[in-house]
This record gives sequence, C-alpha cells and structure tokens, in this order.
Amino acid sequence: MKFFVDTADVKEIRELNEIGLLDGVTTNPSLIMKSGRSIKEVTKEICDIVEGPVSAEVTALDFEGMMKEADILSKIADNICIKVPLTFDGLKACKAITGDGRKVNVTLCFSANQALLAAKAGATFISPFIGRLDDLAIDGMELIADIRTIYNNYGFQTEILAASIRTVNHVREAALIGADVATVPPATLKALVKHTLTDKGIEAFMADWAKTGQSIA
Ligand code: G3P
Repeated sequence: MKFFVDTADVKEIRELNEIGLLDGVTTNPSLIMKSGRSIKEVTKEICDIVEGPVSAEVTALDFEGMMKEADILSKIADNICIKVPLTFDGLKACKAITGDGRKVNVTLCFSANQALLAAKAGATFISPFIGRLDDLAIDGMELIADIRTIYNNYGFQTEILAASIRTVNHVREAALIGADVATVPPATLKALVKHTLTDKGIEAFMADWAKTGQSIA
C-alpha cells in the first residue's frame, strides 16, 4: 500500500519523507488555507521535496475554468496530479487532462457509482472519503470494499486512494480491503508506530540494562 500524506505542512512532509514513508502528497483548499501560504509557492516546495504525485486541487467549478486552472497548476512541477471534484464538469476535465498524459485525482467521492464514473473517465486516482461517511453513521469502509470489487470486476486501473482517514484503524482496514493508497494526516501516520507493548518492552529492557551498569557507546 502506498502512503500519501494529507497536508500542506512542509515541515511535516519533509520529516516523513526523510524516513522513506511517503509515496506522494495530497492537498486541498482547506489544507492550503491551514498552511497560510500561497498555493503556488507551497505546492512548488512540496513538489521539490517529494518524488511521487502531489495532488493540487482546482477551485473552478466549470469545465473551462477547471482546464485553465489545471494548466496553471501543471506548470508548477512535473509531479503535479490535478485534483478535480466528482461532478459532471469534473469528470469532463478528468477525461481531458488524463487524455494528454497528466495525472488526475477525482475527489469527494461518496458512492460506488461515482467511483465507477471516475474510472470510466480515466481517473488516475479516486478519492473516497471514509471519515466524512462515518460522520453520518454510514460505513465508509464499505464504500472502499465496494469500489475494490467493482474495479476488480472490470479491470479498471484507477487507483483507490482512501481519503478522509481519521484513525489508525482506518489505515489497517483500508489496507486489508486492498486500497492502493491511503492519504493520511501526519499525526495519524505517526500514530501507526505506537503500541503500548512496545513502550512497556522498552521500559523493561531499559530497567534491566541499567542494572548491568554497562554502556555501549
Ligand atoms: O483527503 C481528504 C481529507 O483532507 C478530508 O479529510 O478529515 O476533512 O474529512 P477530513
């Protein structure tokens, strides 16, 4: 499973990338707002840090506007992946942008039928939002499983990018189902390393080590 980090915080991206955890980055207008920086400047910096695809989202809602913004965003770096919303105009833009060899992430997916349409329109990635479905007491993971089945049934190459991940269990379940990618907020990505028994084990080893009176260095 590939890991993308879902943030526009350059410090976090740099740290996670240095230990080889990152296969890409996803951003969205809310994350750009949170960074407090200009979209072009921060996206360029992210693209220089990470080798894999960096999703940058269009903000126009009509096809022509999306295409214009996609052209501007594509010029930022070679590893830009254009993110479009799952609307009819978004699908039109997806078809046109992927048609000339660029990557597209179709975002804000909340149903299997939407995911089917995105695959038909040639999406590189489909982003089903798990957490936001869970917020409505709808099982977000069931959507990931449905999309996996549908894409497998027909051999669609669109990668399932599990998004709106809020917990470490979301990562585990998405991996078990076979999502191709999980885009995870930095804090959740870092939380994957934690286990009480690891901490307890370290504590016990350190207590015994102190008793030996030795030091390695
Ligand atoms: O990847 C999409 C993500 O940024 C949305 O997450 O937690 O706002 O639903 P959330």
